[in-house]
Amino acid sequence: MADPLRRDDWASKAHGWVRNQRVFDHAFTPFTDALLAAARIGTGMRVLDVGCGAGTLLQAALDAGAEAVGVDIAEAMVAAARERAPRASVHRGDAQTADLLALDGGTPFDRVISRFGVMFFSDPATAFANLRAACAAGGELAFVSWREGETDLFTYGLEPLRAELADPPGPPADDTAGPMGLATQGHVGSVLRDAGWVDVEVVPLVGTCDFGLDGSDGVDERLSVALAGTVGIAVREELFPIVGQQAWDALCEKARSDMRRRMVRGSVCFDSRAWLVTARNPPGTSRG
Ligand SMILES: C[S@@+](CC[C@H](N)C(=O)[O-])C[C@H]1O[C@@H](n2cnc3c(N)ncnc32)[C@H](O)[C@@H]1O
Repeated sequence: MADPLRRDDWASKAHGWVRNQRVFDHAFTPFTDALLAAARIGTGMRVLDVGCGAGTLLQAALDAGAEAVGVDIAEAMVAAARERAPRASVHRGDAQTADLLALDGGTPFDRVISRFGVMFFSDPATAFANLRAACAAGGELAFVSWREGETDLFTYGLEPLRAELADPPGPPADDTAGPMGLATQGHVGSVLRDAGWVDVEVVPLVGTCDFGLDGSDGVDERLSVALAGTVGIAVREELFPIVGQQAWDALCEKARSDMRRRMVRGSVCFDSRAWLVTARNPPGTSRG
């Protein structure tokens, strides 16, 4: 079986993410709203968005009157974020190891936030300690990560393609660096506590991801997102060389018809599970 995690390379995946950014923003609305409500970003705060992608949260932080700083490991994401949120300061770097204070002027952050950008660290406790080192004493962390049991996000719409493979790639493993890297409550809690965060709260969320964009039925949008994701890339790499273009196109068409049959109120929708995680940097610990 192909190992989708080995393909979890943001340098190449970033282009698909940027291309589908409006779809992600629409589909992830429930998670974005919950995260921003928990983060309580206020005027004049310094906010660090970790794994900022194409800049959605950076723009939200700016809209809330904050000073927004983004860090992302992928060049294509950094370029897209700079375009999307020109008033934000966006840096390319590995948030696990980069000196995040030195990256941006040395003033600690009041908020460290992330929408699905903090599950990819090879050493999560070190990474979250590094994030804490950039946070002001008493400052807060708020992020969302995919929760154990989530499968549709990775496989919905790909069923006819996966069915062609004897041992198709499935959703990534829980608590292993990748999209499901912070999947179980116990793991998330121990990572954060090991990293020195306190008042850790890990709350389950269920959100309806709606792929219908600007009145569309969301079928093409969902297929595009699914094929650009961890499982979709692995399926294509395995299946396409075996079946060739014509059969691949026919299978994609079948995927579209299947999704049309399952639409809810006129668009492709399904519920996804995430954690809403909040924590605090204890007083007297900032190095800024
Ligand atoms: C699932 S995307 C989320 C992007 C963005 N937060 C959003 O919601 O649109 C994950 C992001 O994390 C970034 N990323 C992965 N590992 C990283 C690391 N070690 N340091 C910084 N960014 C990282 C990826 O490049 C990607 O932009």
